[in-house]
Amino acid sequence: MLVLGIETSCDETAAAVVSDQAPRVRANLVLSQLAQHRPYGGVVPEIAARAHLDHLDGLIARTLDEAGVGFEALDAVAATGGPGLIGGVIVGVMTAKAIAFARGLPFLAVNHLEGHALSVRLVAGVAFPFLLLLVSGGHCQLLLVEGVGRYRRLGTTIDDAAGEALDKGAKLLGLPYPGGPAVERAAKDGNADRVALPRPMRGRAGCDFSFSGLKTALARRVAAGGVAVGDGAAALQAAVIDCLIDRTRHAIAMCRSRRAGVGTLVAAGGVAANQALRGALSALAAQSGLAFVAPPPWLCTDNGAMIAWAGIERFAAGHRDGLDFAPRPRWPLDPAGAAAGSK
Ligand code: KG4
Ligand code: ZN
Repeated sequence: MLVLGIETSCDETAAAVVSDQAPRVRANLVLSQLAQHRPYGGVVPEIAARAHLDHLDGLIARTLDEAGVGFEALDAVAATGGPGLIGGVIVGVMTAKAIAFARGLPFLAVNHLEGHALSVRLVAGVAFPFLLLLVSGGHCQLLLVEGVGRYRRLGTTIDDAAGEALDKGAKLLGLPYPGGPAVERAAKDGNADRVALPRPMRGRAGCDFSFSGLKTALARRVAAGGVAVGDGAAALQAAVIDCLIDRTRHAIAMCRSRRAGVGTLVAAGGVAANQALRGALSALAAQSGLAFVAPPPWLCTDNGAMIAWAGIERFAAGHRDGLDFAPRPRWPLDPAGAAAGSK
């Protein structure tokens, strides 16, 4: 089957055509709004919504062109239904519904987090269940992925997400938005040992995260003066990675004690594009007797291919959404876990 996937939940307008047969990704276009948001040092929701509205139709036309197909070749349309900046989500969902209605196609509303969670299965044959570290600008969670639509949240952040910590830290260091890639680049010329930063939550029971203290500590060091950008970036990246590794180690132990049958550690989300993090997770998995798989960087940051793919997986599992689906600003993957925890 051939599915059009639409992603508009943050600051990338993205569309893709994905097949359940190889080659799977027939076209995958991402239009970044970075230049429009950069002067503000972060994403401005109103600007994002307007930019999605201006560009989505043209982007979908170009994506179909690149895939060499017309609307009539599609078997379903999937769009991010949340969570995210609601103006953008509405633009994507309304567009997908209009195409589905006009062409008589099934419509699938995909949870953005499920898009990240299943993205690895688009490129590698990772079997359920697997342990997932989902690290992006808005989310930082450890999830036991038992199947399509079956997620158990083991831990989450009690304040900032890992990507948010990198974005805010980068701003403090005078690096451009988005902070993650800028920090990774600057860290190559830096020495992490020159700037001592805390490792919030390290060694604590469970596998929740906290990053706001890290940002405060870095802000104090920068205000005191004498922090070279490269050293600050290296220290920030090292601290974030140490925290992610410690919490993931705890999650692996939790899976063991539950006899969850996990054989693979998976990383997904924008921060999983970070090479130093991938190296550290790969080493942790090896020590723990697990395989480690992360999607290629283009599939880690927001894109339409992961939404189309999650649509294919949901369709195959028998899910369909009605045209009365209401876009959701918040949409936890594991409602039970979300009710018990914060964010
Ligand atoms: O998944 P994503 O594109 O959007 C959200 O759903 O949030 O993730 C964006 C986040 C940003 O915080 C960005 O700084 C971070 O991913 N990021 C990175 C890298 N590339 C993107 N963080 C560390 N290293 C990278 N190479
Ligand atoms: Zn994302």
